[in-house]
Amino acid sequence: MSVTIGVLREQKPNETRVATTPAEVKRLHKLGVTFLVEKEAGAAAGYDDQSYADEGASLVDRSTALAAKIILTVQPPEAADLDLIKRGSLLIGFLNPLGDPVLLEQLARRGVDGCAVELIPRISRAQSMDALSSQANIAGYRAVIEALYQYGRFVPLMMTSAGTAKPARIVVLGVGVAGLQAIATARRLGGQVEAFDVRSETREQVTSLGAKFIDIDLGEQGDGEGGYAQELSAEAKQRQQEGLSKRLQQADIIITTAQIPGKAAPILVTEETVKGMRPGSVIVDMAAANGGNCPLSEADKVVTRHGVTLVGDTNLPAHLASDASSFYGRNLTHLLELLLPAVESGSVKIALDLEDEIIAGCLAVHEGELRFGQGG
Ligand code: NAI
Repeated sequence: MSVTIGVLREQKPNETRVATTPAEVKRLHKLGVTFLVEKEAGAAAGYDDQSYADEGASLVDRSTALAAKIILTVQPPEAADLDLIKRGSLLIGFLNPLGDPVLLEQLARRGVDGCAVELIPRISRAQSMDALSSQANIAGYRAVIEALYQYGRFVPLMMTSAGTAKPARIVVLGVGVAGLQAIATARRLGGQVEAFDVRSETREQVTSLGAKFIDIDLGEQGDGEGGYAQELSAEAKQRQQEGLSKRLQQADIIITTAQIPGKAAPILVTEETVKGMRPGSVIVDMAAANGGNCPLSEADKVVTRHGVTLVGDTNLPAHLASDASSFYGRNLTHLLELLLPAVESGSVKIALDLEDEIIAGCLAVHEGELRFGQGG
């Protein structure tokens, strides 16, 4: 019996991505998967219904897509959708396990398994499935583009017969996936780039991209587990803010990407710092969805405070919906290639291998049990 995979049309405002593309449908169709793609699912990302049909997918209404054995989504589905998902099915997407535990509880109550792609471990074997990274990479690029759009000056050094424009000073705070891409993009555009992160290993990554690492003596190490940072002590936070303040006030553009999973975003750009910045400067706060790295930024708004423009866009990848969907879809294909053998071995129950580190890591809900937060 062939496995059915439903692909939902995203419902959240400004969500233009789709969970898989016709290219991925073609790839998995060869493995015997039947795709039930909700009509218009890919339209906002530039993939029309016909392009899915050409690769063997059936275009269906939402309730039919929701009744599939495996359901792919970008954002968590709407509350009303949950009633239409069958017991024993598997929902895969950004299920926001840290921010929305209620959804996971609802899935558990309904006997629906939930695979939260945010929880895919950052290990080499899972790199091709790491949706958080693929989307953060795009977001880091787009953050620079958004900054430039708001910034009323040149970024590269411009020497013309009518005068010379100095290169823009760009500071990137937080050098994870998004930060590294922001540095690379800002450098390509000719900016003079500096960056800071609490994890010591990032120094070499910053310099290898041709940017300058900002040295601050925090009095402690910020390195945590699994390539993530750990929260700093109050004293180290103070040292960081003081150490950064002057550099930030000289910046034309600041891109902030600092996060510690499960915690509010650390404040790195204080109101005092913003007050000292030159009018016309721009801050893109990528952590705006999580409280922000600057207390003045507002989620999904562009605001001007003390003459500085703050961009709080919480869905930067959606501005590059076609590429973002293509990367995300490919991530899900790799994950499905790991999961599908378990589905095919039994048509009623998905016999997932919980010994597998990747499956164990991202399976937040399984057979009515919440696994997330219990070492899973
Ligand atoms: P990541 O975990 O790879 O990188 C975050 C970096 O912040 C780490 O290198 C960490 O060491 C650093 N950090 C933590 N505390 C710090 C501090 N006090 N000072 C300096 N650096 C500190 O995360 P990723 O994937 O690069 O995402 C970065 C941020 O961007 C997250 O907040 C994420 O939610 C957000 N994001 C926003 C998007 C948007 O559309 N606005 C899209 C994708 C990600």
